[in-house]
Amino acid sequence: MTLSYPKTVKIVEVGPRDGLQNESLEISTAHKLAFIDLLAQSGLKQIEVTSFVHPKRIPQLADAFEVAQGVKEYPEVTYSALVPNMKGLERAISSGIKRIAVFTAASETFTQKNINMGVQESLDTFNPIVQEALKQGMSVRGYVSTCFVCPYEGDVKKEKVLFVAKALQQMGIDEISLGDTIGAAAPNNVYETVGEILNEIPKEQIALHFHDTYGTALANVVAGLDLGITTFDASAGGLGGCPYAPGASGNLATEDLVYLLQRMGIETGVDLEKLAKASFFIQQVLGRPLPSKQLQRLSSCQQVQECQG
Ligand code: HMG
Ligand code: MG
Repeated sequence: MTLSYPKTVKIVEVGPRDGLQNESLEISTAHKLAFIDLLAQSGLKQIEVTSFVHPKRIPQLADAFEVAQGVKEYPEVTYSALVPNMKGLERAISSGIKRIAVFTAASETFTQKNINMGVQESLDTFNPIVQEALKQGMSVRGYVSTCFVCPYEGDVKKEKVLFVAKALQQMGIDEISLGDTIGAAAPNNVYETVGEILNEIPKEQIALHFHDTYGTALANVVAGLDLGITTFDASAGGLGGCPYAPGASGNLATEDLVYLLQRMGIETGVDLEKLAKASFFIQQVLGRPLPSKQLQRLSSCQQVQECQG
């Protein structure tokens, strides 16, 4: 049987943001910058580095300005950061970051708990932010959380996801990342919901953002590939979660995604061992093992152990 998959896939690394926002240990700005630089050196070209959210809501990313200002620039690497409102955009502009991501959800209760707004209110809030960001020469990504299951409302209807995704697209957002925030989806959910979205939004504008709480993230990636999706979010080592989504564990580990894609003959531009070096670094800072299967496998590899030192 011949299956047809894309030749290349773009990985959006969200570890420094989605990963570190969920850590209880305080991590210094210097350690974050060193981690981000190792990620950039591994061949990752899109790295979400922080969030310009309320520092009391996400204290782990209170140094957003210092991180966004401090990252080492590489011509082929784009750094981005989350922005929830105009105050966040002002902070992002002053930091010099060139790409932002606004974020809402398909379910009302999660949106309210996460950003203290309803879904429609969030869309009304984002429109002027997106227009201003574009005017400033920034580019804008948009997240739709709880596309499959909401931790408060249960299963989410695909029509709701489509409504929010279309509203974001119509604002001029270039990439819409559909999130399985609590990592509960299975491939049939991906075929159904993402399939519905693709009737109205080109696949080039869709990214998939899987958490791996129930161990279904890689299976969901394959469902996404089947649908022709070529952009996937992942987090080094499998760091991550959302403090406002009880039960959400880490994101799909970037190493595990890279291995799967390599094995399927799909190019990512990422060097697995260099990526593991970044994850080993942050693992040491955190003082706990990270869940990535590939990282665990590589930890027994002498060559990479040397890299850890
Ligand atoms: P709010 O309290 O409703 O804000 O928070 P407000 O507009 O009423 O303002 C209250 C005070 O906060 C004011 O200060 C503002 O200046 C200040 P005061 O006048 O009282 O001194 N303020 C800010 N300060 C700094 N930066 C800002 C900012 N905004 C207001 N941007 C807000 C609303 C959205 C800010 C808050 O709810 C918040 O920060 N939420 C963040 C939640 C979050 O970061 N969640 C995790 C990320 S989402 C996620 O992980 C899911 C994802 O990975 C995809 C998936 O997995 O599905 C993306
Ligand atoms: Mg997430």
